[in-house]
Amino acid sequence: MSDHVQNWVDVAAEEDCVEGHAVEVLVDGQVIAIFHEQGEWFAMDGMCAHQGGPIAQGHVAGGCVTCPWHGWQYELSTGIQTINRQPLQKTYAVRACDGRIEVDMNS
Ligand code: FES
Repeated sequence: MSDHVQNWVDVAAEEDCVEGHAVEVLVDGQVIAIFHEQGEWFAMDGMCAHQGGPIAQGHVAGGCVTCPWHGWQYELSTGIQTINRQPLQKTYAVRACDGRIEVDMNS
C-alpha cells in the first residue's frame, strides 16, 4: 500500500530469540509473540483470538503455532486459523537489524 507509513519498533535482542522458541514482548500495551523458525522471523498478536491464550507458549510445527489453551492453530506467516481458514490472528512485519528485532506496528 502506497500510503503505508512504517513504524518499526525495537522489541528485543536477536540473541534472546532463540531459534525454535518464541518470545513475548509488550509494545504500547499490545502483547506480541515473536517466532524464530527455520531461519525466518514471524510476529503475531500474542493473545489468541479465541479467548486470549498465550500464543508465544504454543507449540510450533509445520509453519503453524497451536495455542496452548484450546488448540486453535494459526499459520505463522498469515495468522490464518487452519480449521476455518479465516485470518483471525493479526500478524506483523518483523525484521532482524543490527542484532535487534524490530516489528512494524503499522503493518
Ligand atoms: S484461547 Fe487459544 S484456543 Fe482458546
